[in-house]
Order: sequence, then structure tokens, then C-alpha cells
Amino acid sequence: MKRTFLLLVVALFITQESTWAQQPPPRGPRPGGPPPQGGAPMHENPLMAKDDAEKKALAALEQARQGERFANVSTEDGRLLRQLTEAVNAQRVVELGTSTGESGIWFAMALRKTGGHLYTHDIDPERIKVAQRNFETAGVADLITIIEGDAHETIKQHQEPVDIVFLDADKEGYLDYLEKILPVVRPGGLIIAHNMRRPTPDPRYIKAITTNPDLDTSFLLMEGAGVGVTLKKR
Ligand SMILES: C[S@@+](CC[C@H](N)C(=O)[O-])C[C@H]1O[C@@H](n2cnc3c(N)ncnc32)[C@H](O)[C@@H]1O
Repeated sequence: MKRTFLLLVVALFITQESTWAQQPPPRGPRPGGPPPQGGAPMHENPLMAKDDAEKKALAALEQARQGERFANVSTEDGRLLRQLTEAVNAQRVVELGTSTGESGIWFAMALRKTGGHLYTHDIDPERIKVAQRNFETAGVADLITIIEGDAHETIKQHQEPVDIVFLDADKEGYLDYLEKILPVVRPGGLIIAHNMRRPTPDPRYIKAITTNPDLDTSFLLMEGAGVGVTLKKR
């Protein structure tokens, strides 16, 4: 009787073990682990103002984002612009495509620290008016010169060394902008191109930045519009 009971318990245990082994792993992400589709864990990455000037600029960006956006840079791309500008200690930044000034404010946050200046080009007088207002609200108007007109022409006025060029105007114009501005980009300077993922970038521009031994390009294409960062080698 005692032996039968013992056998029953062992049989039950074995059955239960094999049932557990067949069960699928628990669903949903582990805390701190990768999301269900795999890849890197998502990180909280809040914006934090270091001082009152940054607080004012970030508040103006927040306000500007309530208006019409015109494919302006995302917060992630804007942060990258600021980081690169401060990292290369940029003194002179040239932007093609001001729009309503969101990317300009990101640049200006860095230029306040580096002592540099942004020259930003746009063809649309209405957007320029909004940009000027946004720069004033952000407290960065003194760091920015807006140049109105067709940037394929107005870009020619830059003769002094440029630390950073940001291409974000007409997408089919990127190659022309590159050819015109590259001679004045300083060695060690950067050409940053927006929309390297969507809309589909001009293959002639991609070829130009990936086949020139004087240049080295990285593409950040994981999400959003996609950004290309090209170094003009020393
Ligand atoms: C995508 S928006 C720029 C967004 C801006 N960089 C931002 O992130 O806040 C493109 C801008 O390029 C301008 N644009 C288009 N073609 C141009 C040209 N040939 N010359 C100057 N500006 C041009 C448009 O008027 C528009 O405001």
C-alpha cells in the first residue's frame, strides 16, 4: 500500500515536470530587457535644461512644435545637431532650409556655448517671418543670421571656413549644395544631411559622400527621417 502510494507520487511528479517543460516562455518584455521584437532595450532619455538659457530655448521649441511643422527635425535629430555642434566647437554653421527655425534653435543652443554663429538659408519669406519670431522667443536671435533667397545662389557667399553644414532644403539639391560648399568646409568639419532614410535620398548625393576618399560618412537610419553625418577628413 505504502509502495503504491510512493509510485503514484513519483508518476505525478514526472507528468507535472514534462507539462512545465512544454509551456512557452512567459510573454512580454522583462523589466530592463529587450522589447518583444528583439533589439536593444528602450531607454528613458528626457531633455534636461542645464541653465535658464536652455530652459528658454526648449520652451520655445515646445511652443514652435504646436504650430505647423513642415517636416522640421524631430527632437532626436535636433539633439544630435546640438551635440555635434558643441562637440566640434563650431564657430560657423551653415544651414540650408530654415523653415520655422526649429533646427536653428537646436544649433543655437550649442552656439551659445561655443561662441559661434548660424547662417541659415530659406526661400520662403513667410516661414522666415515665423522663424525670426521663434528665434526671438528662444532668446537666440543674436546667434543667427537668416539669408533669404534661393540657397543654390545664396550659398555662394560663404567664403570663410565652415565647421558644419546642414542640408535640409530641396532634397534634389543636396549634390549641388555639397559641391558648392565642400571647398570651404574646414578639414575636420561635418556635412550633416537630413532625410537620408525618407523620403528616398538622391542616389547622386549618396554616391558623392560614399565614394570620395576625402570624406567619411555614417548613416543613422534606425528611425525617423534618417541622418547622414559626413566628416571632411584632415
Ligand atoms: C524641411 S524644411 C527645413 C526644416 C528645418 N531645417 C527644421 O528642421 O526646422 C525645408 C525648407 O527648405 C526651404 N527650401 C526649399 N528649397 C529651397 C531653396 N532652393 N533655397 C532655399 N530654401 C529652400 C523650404 O522653404 C523649407 O522651409
